[in-house]
Formats: sequence, structure tokens, C-alpha cells
Amino acid sequence: MNKIKKVSLLDIEKKHKNHQIISMMTAYDYPGAIQVDESGVDIILIGDSLAMTVLGHPTTVSVTMTEMLHHCKAVSRGAQRAFLVGDMPFLSYQADSAEAVRNAGRFLKEAHIDAVKLEGGRNVLGSIQAILNAGIPVMGHLGLTPQTATKLGGYKVQGKTVANAVRLLEDALALQEAGCFAIVLEAITAPVAKVITERLDIPTIGIGSGVDCSGQVLVYHDILGLYDQFVPKFVKQYANLKDTIIDAIREYRVEVEQHTFPTDSHAFDMDDEEYERFLKAI
Ligand code: KIV
Repeated sequence: MNKIKKVSLLDIEKKHKNHQIISMMTAYDYPGAIQVDESGVDIILIGDSLAMTVLGHPTTVSVTMTEMLHHCKAVSRGAQRAFLVGDMPFLSYQADSAEAVRNAGRFLKEAHIDAVKLEGGRNVLGSIQAILNAGIPVMGHLGLTPQTATKLGGYKVQGKTVANAVRLLEDALALQEAGCFAIVLEAITAPVAKVITERLDIPTIGIGSGVDCSGQVLVYHDILGLYDQFVPKFVKQYANLKDTIIDAIREYRVEVEQHTFPTDSHAFDMDDEEYERFLKAI
């Protein structure tokens, strides 16, 4: 049996140097990880978006370390090829850098994840630096940072003013200088994301940030039409699995009610003699 070669940080770096686009996609559980892995994407992100798409919370703020690790473990059991990035949840890295290192380490030690992602720029640089010093690869995340969306005034596109665009660029350069291997740019105006991408040596992974990023990421439930409570403008839905699933379950329910499922072919038989002896025994 051929052993599957796992994507490494060097492979991602090499792809970027060769001007090849990097693909990233979220996954949150074992079957999802197998599907995303087999599709051939470079990076699987176990995003804290699972707070909404899987756990039904209104925002990402409530998800805990325990919940993130639970999902990361399931994904790492399913994915064999892709590089795995675990999202550090709100307040697992902001309070102090020693706690940030311990929490980041749990993603690697307990859930077999390859790297962690943190939202923020120079405001969380102390934690990022400490995690990197501990030998844990870090992916940054700038622009619309959902964990602090309230502070941003809501889920608002970033990089619309000179001051904001300059701050984003300076944050990106600071994250690169610290040693992050890539930066997610979320909902940043396309021209600003382009300039940030051009000024950096490390790859940018865009989500709603235009066509010029070094890679792209989308959320599993969004592209498959499994989460329709809020579909951002930047999402492309490649399937409508919610309706497909409801149709299949409805068909099952109707067949159960009409006694057309199960049939004898779905049942297990008992040896005739054993059955006779069973009837006599009762
Ligand atoms: O949590 C998540 O899924 C993310 C992506 C949207 C980048 O952070």
C-alpha cells in the first residue's frame, strides 16, 4: 500500500515561491476531513467557525478550547495528506502569552494538529512570538476578525480607508517579521489585499479579499450549502446538500410510514431449527 505523503510547511513555502496558488478549506469532523483531504486541498483549517456551522452559536465567541480540541482530534483522525491548522478560540491566547503557549501546544500534543491560527496583529504579537518561540508554527488572521467583530462595529469589510489600510499592512509586516508562515486576509478590499500580498514574502490566504491573494479559503458548510443562516457575498456555493439531505431523510421517513422500508433484504435470518427451539423455550 502506498503511504500518502503529507503536505509540509516546506511544500507550502515551495508552492508559494513557484507562484502556485494555495488551497485551504475548513473541516470539523472525521467524515468531513476525509472528504476535504481526498479533494486534494493543501491545508485543512479546523476553524472556530464551527461554533456557528456545527454547534449553532450565533458567533464564534462562545466556542471553548475543549470543543476546538474535540473537533481537531476528529479531523486529524480523518485527514492523511493535508497540512492541519487549528483555530485558537477567543480568550485562549489574549490574556497572557504563557497561557497562549500552553493552549497552542495542546493542539499539537493532544489533537495532532500541525499549526495554530490566531486572530489579530500587533495587539497579540506577544502571544504569537511566544508560541513561535515554543516551536509551534503560526498562521495569522487579519481584516475582519470575527472574534472581535463587535469592536470592529460588526461584520464589516476592512481596508476601506487609508488609515485602516496602512494599519493592516503594518500588522501584516509585523506578523511576517515575528515568523508567521502565512496570513489569512478576511474581507479586506481587493486592492489593499493585493498590496499586502505583494509586500509580503509569506503567502496570504484570502477569504472575501479578492483574486490576488496567494491562496484562498472557504468554509465547508458554505460551499456545500449546509449553512444558510448567513451566506456572505464572497461565498460560492458549489452544491446544495441541505436540500439533498432533507429529501433523502424525508424519503426514508415516508418509506418507514408506508412500511416499504425495511424489506426482508435488510433483515438477518435465524437458523430454522434454532428458531423452533426458541419458540419451544418460551
Ligand atoms: O473559523 C474559520 O473558519 C476561519 C476562516 C473563515 C478563515 O477563520
